[in-house]
Amino acid sequence: MSTTKPRLFSGMQPSGELHVGNYLGALKQWAALVRAETHDALFCIVDAHAVTVDYEARELPQRVLDAATTYIAGGVDPERATLFVQSDVPEHMELAWYLACVTPMGDLGRMTQFKEKSEQNRQMVSVGLFTYPVLMAADILLYKARVVPVGDDQVQHLELAREICRKWNARFGEVFPEPMPRLSSTPRIMGLDGQAKMSKSRGNALGMLDEPDVLWDRLRPAFTDPQRLRKSDPGNPEVCNIFTMHRAVSPEATVAEVDAKCRSAGWGCADCKRVLHTNLNEELAPIREKARELRARPELVREVLHEGARRCRAIARETLREVHEAMGLGAERR
Ligand code: AMP
Ligand code: TRP
Repeated sequence: MSTTKPRLFSGMQPSGELHVGNYLGALKQWAALVRAETHDALFCIVDAHAVTVDYEARELPQRVLDAATTYIAGGVDPERATLFVQSDVPEHMELAWYLACVTPMGDLGRMTQFKEKSEQNRQMVSVGLFTYPVLMAADILLYKARVVPVGDDQVQHLELAREICRKWNARFGEVFPEPMPRLSSTPRIMGLDGQAKMSKSRGNALGMLDEPDVLWDRLRPAFTDPQRLRKSDPGNPEVCNIFTMHRAVSPEATVAEVDAKCRSAGWGCADCKRVLHTNLNEELAPIREKARELRARPELVREVLHEGARRCRAIARETLREVHEAMGLGAERR
């Protein structure tokens, strides 16, 4: 894990079990980048982001542990990457405050995710929810990360992080490199209802660790090409979410076959889904198995998080020393 490699940072909310959208949009790419050993890769379970909306405090520790277990099972190998929990490194929150002081309120008000989430939590929209993207910018800048692999829905937040980075640097000196988003080849997986992106809260998701029969029960009735009403109608794979998932998990020859058989109505949607089910399950089965093993050894996962936090706190303190220096803060530490 050489520190001369460019640094990569990404985060995910500890929202219990991950879904196939998280996996194909983000985690699968993380695992590939970790395997390639091209970056100093840091992955963060962002529990301080999770408390911006109503949540169950008693359940959070288990959700964090489950998320860590799933990351490791999904290919974030702790021998080759650093995995940690955001609130174990309080410097994230401190840097977020300083960054908030160079962030215009208007920019935050334009964030799509804020608009959506404030609709869903109408009884009380917290200041924390509003400044969520500033904390996200702090997550990244604290480690001077250059590459940020995310799904499509986070690109707007990344653009804002870049803007905040430029504003801070222009005012206080060049401390932070500008982070670049990196998208997977399937950065947006739609939900099984075809109405919105796949997400746990909408109930339109395939669980990443679901057993094969559960996967099939959910996949079988899933939305496809809305123009294709009968099996004899030719379909258009370009508008079909099932095809998007094929592109992510099926071999190239299968993807070509699916494309041809859909357009010629050679296969019905159920045939196409059966092949997807087989290939998806083949990819997820070893992850499921690994998760099962890790769940039986939570102390191993805790140890990974402990080590991760230790390493990250050291990096974070160093960055904050530079930030204090540049901003004229922290008299006692001079
Ligand atoms: P979240 O669960 O919202 O913290 O998202 C974790 C990661 O998964 C982020 O990089 C998201 O961009 C990505 N992600 C979430 N939902 C989807 C989806 N439906 N399609 C593709 N990527 C997604
Ligand atoms: N906001 C991201 C999401 O909901 C999670 C996140 C927090 C993140 N901090 C980050 C992603 C830093 C990348 C980099 O998916």
